[in-house]
Amino acid sequence: MALQPVAEDKFSFGLWTVGWRAIDPFGEATRPPLDAVEAVNRLAELGAWGVTFHDDDLIPFGSEDSERQRRIQRFRAALEATGLVVPMATTNLFAHPVFKDGALTSNDREVRRFALRKVMRNMDLAAELGATTYVLWGGREGSETDAAKDVRAALDRYREGIDTLAGYVLEQGYQLRLALEPKPNEPRGDIFLPTVGHALAFISTLEHQELVGLNPEVGHEQMAGLNFVHGIGQALWQGKLFHIDLNGQRGPRYDQDLIFGHGDVLSAFFLVDLLEHGGYEGPRHFDFKPPRTEDIDGVWASAAANMRSYLLLRERARAFRADPRVREALEASRVPQLSVPTLAEGETLADLRADRSAFEDFDPDAAARRGYGYATLSQLAFEHLLGEA
Ligand code: GCO
Ligand code: MN
Ligand code: MN
Repeated sequence: MALQPVAEDKFSFGLWTVGWRAIDPFGEATRPPLDAVEAVNRLAELGAWGVTFHDDDLIPFGSEDSERQRRIQRFRAALEATGLVVPMATTNLFAHPVFKDGALTSNDREVRRFALRKVMRNMDLAAELGATTYVLWGGREGSETDAAKDVRAALDRYREGIDTLAGYVLEQGYQLRLALEPKPNEPRGDIFLPTVGHALAFISTLEHQELVGLNPEVGHEQMAGLNFVHGIGQALWQGKLFHIDLNGQRGPRYDQDLIFGHGDVLSAFFLVDLLEHGGYEGPRHFDFKPPRTEDIDGVWASAAANMRSYLLLRERARAFRADPRVREALEASRVPQLSVPTLAEGETLADLRADRSAFEDFDPDAAARRGYGYATLSQLAFEHLLGEA
């Protein structure tokens, strides 16, 4: 089994993942800061293909211009030396207290204008480094009280913000597409665009909707009790899966950002199956947090674990698809029938009404007696997942 990651696997990590110092609402950092160049070097050694960043991960908020240039220069040199690419970048619109009421949807207009400029500045850098996706995670876009926000006005401003940024990309001729990342809550009590479904509906109202898609995260949909595989299925169906954040989560609770697979493993299996067979060709980006208990060795062990989990699941999914018993079970479950249009080609409404076999002569009781065989199919998947089949 090829469990050593290679560039073709397109594994990428955020600087903020391995660089997380494990500050949580109850405790201080348990790890020292991690230099961006060290992160690039170690990720490359582990077999990663790409690295992503928030502006402030690379250049601390408020840095002087010379310091900014120095940091970009060092980062660039590390990329060149290792061959790591920057497929995506994003903006920190949540850490500084100026964003405590949000960025693109803050009630304070000056804050909204500042946020737009902060994003545009980092888009320049993203384009310069060759990124093709620009993520927007609206962590602070939301509220704790419904008295505070006129949701319709907030969505007007959100739309204005995204339209403005898409307009900037077009004006500059950048090869960037925007990817919105839904999340139901945390850090805000309630975040706007809480799920894949909300975000897709929002995108359909945008001026440059062809430039805007999604960056769904496993744990975020699961925090909302939703089926991530279904969300990804719909995003693919609408041509909107621009990027993906892989991690683990155990049901509706705080955002755990566990190692990929270390949550709902059956869902992770079907997710990898869908990504591998559903035509998604973008990065496999891990947005996880190395557990707070870990020292730096544990950080690298957890980074490697994400990629290994993915590769293991990919092996299992391939074996599942290749198994003749699975093909038979799929057939018995009539799974391929779902791809057959319900009306025949050229069939009119009059034809349907005239088809006695569809209604008058159809025996619903006989059809109701037919089992679908999903128990067998589902167990085959489970056994492949466990390497038993
Ligand atoms: C989270 C989010 C963030 C964003 C990232 C990109 O765990 O709440 O995933 O990690 O993905 O900040 O802006
Ligand atoms: Mn998360
Ligand atoms: Mn994320």
